[in-house]
Amino acid sequence: MAKLWGGRFEKETNQAVEAFSASMSLDQRMWHADIIGSIAHVRMLGMKGIIPPQDSSEIIAGLQIVRNRIAKGELQFDPNAEDVHSEIERFLTEEIGPVAGKLHTGRSRNDQVVTDVRLYMRAEIDGLDAMLSDMMGWIVEAAPQYVETMLPGLTHTQHAQPVSLAHHLLAYFWMFERDRDRLRDSRKRMNRLPLGSAALAGTGFPLDRQMVAKELGFEAVIPNSLDAVSDRDWIIEFLSAAATIMTHLSRLCEELIWWSSPDLGFVECDDTVTTGSSIMPQKKNPDVAELIRGRVGKVVGDLTGMLVTMKSLPLAYNRDLQEDKSYLFDALDTVKSCLEMSYLMLSTAQFRPQQMKDSLSGDFSNATDLADYLARKGMPFRQAHSVVGHVVRWCIEQELHLEDLSVAQLRAFSELIDEDAPQYLQHIAVMRARTSEGGTAPSAVLEQIEKAKAVL
Ligand code: ARG
Repeated sequence: MAKLWGGRFEKETNQAVEAFSASMSLDQRMWHADIIGSIAHVRMLGMKGIIPPQDSSEIIAGLQIVRNRIAKGELQFDPNAEDVHSEIERFLTEEIGPVAGKLHTGRSRNDQVVTDVRLYMRAEIDGLDAMLSDMMGWIVEAAPQYVETMLPGLTHTQHAQPVSLAHHLLAYFWMFERDRDRLRDSRKRMNRLPLGSAALAGTGFPLDRQMVAKELGFEAVIPNSLDAVSDRDWIIEFLSAAATIMTHLSRLCEELIWWSSPDLGFVECDDTVTTGSSIMPQKKNPDVAELIRGRVGKVVGDLTGMLVTMKSLPLAYNRDLQEDKSYLFDALDTVKSCLEMSYLMLSTAQFRPQQMKDSLSGDFSNATDLADYLARKGMPFRQAHSVVGHVVRWCIEQELHLEDLSVAQLRAFSELIDEDAPQYLQHIAVMRARTSEGGTAPSAVLEQIEKAKAVL
């Protein structure tokens, strides 16, 4: 196949080398961004008189035809081509003839490719933002019905204090909100124009980069041509945001997996998102959640791979940089599918409030409240802690539940205990007592829901 750069070469490229170095399979997906970028570039070339305005118009019209024909499936990319840029130039040449050759005036694939990736990712980030918003929207919608639903809050995976299911779900709302924020932040630095930097040093053609930036919706022009073609910080930032999203999804999935185990039974995942076993007829397995948990490794690997690729890379463009897209798109596709699956799983899950409540009985997650009770009666908290420790130990020996003890039984441990003590030890009271801002008491959670709504 004819090369964009064949003139200097006497021999054909070894076919294995061609296959080894091609990026067609990676960059094909950016075809639309490539055309949009080319249209802006060539329009500017015409307006500045760098090429005759008539040629510019002809190329723009040709690019528009190519765009429509690709969209309709009339033009097929050759899977063995070098990259999407050369394929689109080939299509254009087939469409309008040799004038197509003027498109690449004052441009290199080095600045072209990063312009394409930035354009492509900008739209993809907006898509991810919408997916995260959907998850958050579901949480805010679901939360009010679970404000009074208790489950054990854990530290060290041991029962600590009861929390409301709404509160627990809302914790993920805020994680996803920070994820959106990180994506928006990375988008900001992504949204700058490298085009016009040419191969590395700029060009002698009197380009108007501001004009191109404006047409393509970039906020600014990258001020240094060397930096423009070799910077991949914005990809690292995106990958870091993506890896963080994956850790959040993985934590959520870990909880769904664990909650759906028959030992807990806090949730039942829907038939439509679970799978069975080929040998054990009773099984309903949370494979989707496990796959999401498993795929974190891919995205963390993508981030690591990109960081390692950039380390020690001298300025400016080096072919190593072509690898950016394999990391970037793998992470993007993984996060997208995992967000889609997480939404499906979460929005179809059946929570089991009774099981959650039953698991609290006799769990001593009310012990802090007995200590707090004594402290309010004037006992130093350290001493109260110790007294209640003795109560707990005694209950364990006697196989009694703290919330079932009579006033007399409690008073054996301290004179400060009055008639009102047992009511503070009911789990619902324990949860309702945590009224501090951001706490799990229904009153605080309702306020939190309002804050979450305001964010959305
Ligand atoms: N396919 C390359 C990339 O993705 C862009 C082409 C630049 N190639 C070159 N030999 N300078 O980075």
